[in-house]
Amino acid sequence: MPEHTFRLNGEPVTVTAPDDLRLLWVLRDLLGLTGPKYGCGIAVCKACTSHLNGRAVTPCSVPVGALGPEDEVTTIEGLAGEGGLHPMQRAWLDLDVSQCGYCQPGQIMAAVALVRRVAAEGRAVTDADLDGIRNVCRCGAYPRVREAIRAGGEAMRDSPDRGLPTG
Ligand code: FES
Ligand code: FES
Repeated sequence: MPEHTFRLNGEPVTVTAPDDLRLLWVLRDLLGLTGPKYGCGIAVCKACTSHLNGRAVTPCSVPVGALGPEDEVTTIEGLAGEGGLHPMQRAWLDLDVSQCGYCQPGQIMAAVALVRRVAAEGRAVTDADLDGIRNVCRCGAYPRVREAIRAGGEAMRDSPDRGLPTG
């Protein structure tokens, strides 16, 4: 069975797994990170949303064989900095977004990727950007999710070392 090495939440990891095993199962079953949730397994619900090299991806659709040693995977477990919660996580708590909580790690990871992307484009989050988030919430917490993305995005602007790329 092949070995695969990549970076996970800032540290190199190596797993032994078939090339076509999806990253979601590598994270959850082989590496014990259960923040990325399993909802559909076919890249529809977005419950598993994590970051690959800073971009939001659904690890249920990424074969582990596609990763190399320089690829950086970030899950919700790796989002908080040494100084405490990420500004988006703090906004989620402040606005009491969660109901059952199942979709929330994916929602937060999608939110952070969105804010970073629009900041890199030199603009603020728009309603159209929020409409483009496709993470399913079976509890219907969408209004608070949108509110938290705006609040968390503003907080990220004030915390560039923990939120937005610099330079
Ligand atoms: S479990 Fe990955 S998108 Fe649904
Ligand atoms: S909070 Fe329950 S699925 Fe979103």
